[in-house]
Amino acid sequence: MLNAITPFIAALLMPGGSTFPYPFTNSTSPQNGTFSNATLPSPNGTGVIEYKCQYKFPTDLTVLNERYPDYNTSHLHDASRLFMLRRQVPEEGEIATRAQFQGLPSNVSNTTCRLELTLPKLQTIKGFNPTFNVYQVERDTDTISTWKNYVGYTDANLFGRVNGEPEALERTRTIGGGIAAIGETRCNETLTFQMGMAFNSKDGVPNYWEFVEIMPPAWPVQGFRMVWGC
Ligand SMILES: *[C@@H]1O[C@H](CO)[C@@H](O)[C@H](O)[C@H]1NC(C)=O
Ligand SMILES: *[C@@H]1O[C@H](CO)[C@@H](O)[C@H](O)[C@H]1NC(C)=O
Ligand SMILES: *[C@@H]1O[C@H](CO)[C@@H](O)[C@H](O)[C@H]1NC(C)=O
Ligand SMILES: *[C@@H]1O[C@H](CO)[C@@H](O)[C@H](O)[C@H]1NC(C)=O
Ligand SMILES: *[C@@H]1O[C@H](CO)[C@@H](O)[C@H](O)[C@H]1NC(C)=O
Ligand SMILES: *[C@@H]1O[C@H](CO)[C@@H](O)[C@H](O)[C@H]1NC(C)=O
Ligand SMILES: *[C@@H]1O[C@H](CO)[C@@H](O)[C@H](O)[C@H]1NC(C)=O
Ligand SMILES: *[C@@H]1O[C@H](CO)[C@@H](O)[C@H](O)[C@H]1NC(C)=O
Repeated sequence: MLNAITPFIAALLMPGGSTFPYPFTNSTSPQNGTFSNATLPSPNGTGVIEYKCQYKFPTDLTVLNERYPDYNTSHLHDASRLFMLRRQVPEEGEIATRAQFQGLPSNVSNTTCRLELTLPKLQTIKGFNPTFNVYQVERDTDTISTWKNYVGYTDANLFGRVNGEPEALERTRTIGGGIAAIGETRCNETLTFQMGMAFNSKDGVPNYWEFVEIMPPAWPVQGFRMVWGC
């Protein structure tokens, strides 16, 4: 499991690279959004097509807290833009977060959607290894998620991982432009993900990560976004 962290560094440098060989890997390229006709012919078979990235920020972040497993009358802690993960040992005071994107290109268009994390500038991060897993789930748009919906520990839903070790974060900032590519999937009108800490704590300090999602025009922009079209 620990060894699985390293490929995510490579993914930072090569959006749409070989780390996540989903059927549509060719639709993204590290080359400035410009494709050579050798790899992706234009509809008329000649010339180079220019692709422009399109972005969408989460419609909603919901905190899932093991201490309030059934609470579904409103957003926990009244927060809909709060990312908070905590784990000492599994399922004891553990906290996860669900991120949902709505209004994405529908799956009929076969577009690839890439989930990215703009590393937060304003955050609290603690613990010996605040690496987290990202799971893809399917949830109704009108349901408030609860801890009971959390699918952590199930490899079947594992979508990607963000390496939270200090050296990895530093490399993402210096080499990867502060953006971590998490994974790709076929776009769908709604895409939903859950995030949870990957490891237990050491020496009694829980692995912990907290930030508020900030979208443009607010600044500094930080948190999750969905990217397609480039
Ligand atoms: C996608 O990329 C792979 C590997 O580079 C290549 O073998 C394949 O032909 C490409 N597919 C298309 C449709 O360009
Ligand atoms: C990418 O874009 C930058 C700035 O527009 C340019 O300097 C660079 O040469 C481009 N790289 C490629 C591979 O086209
Ligand atoms: C081929 O498609 C490209 C990209 O859409 C376009 O710029 C170019 O004019 C087209 N060429 C012809 C001959 O239709
Ligand atoms: C790409 O298209 C241009 C214009 O038609 C052509 O000159 C060039 O040889 C093509 N490149 C490749 C690698 O096929
Ligand atoms: C909250 O949970 C209760 C009990 O499981 C359920 O009956 C109710 O429909 C849920 N409400 C929402 C908004 O999901
Ligand atoms: C779109 O995705 C949903 C859920 O995965 C699926 O049930 C539906 O068949 C898909 N539609 C198309 C046109 O592929
Ligand atoms: C989407 O992909 C499926 C399976 O590869 C294909 O059958 C379908 O024609 C594609 N739809 C579009 C609109 O490209
Ligand atoms: C795709 O979007 C539809 C419409 O929002 C939603 O009902 C469905 O659950 C989504 N599928 C997935 C796999 O998230």
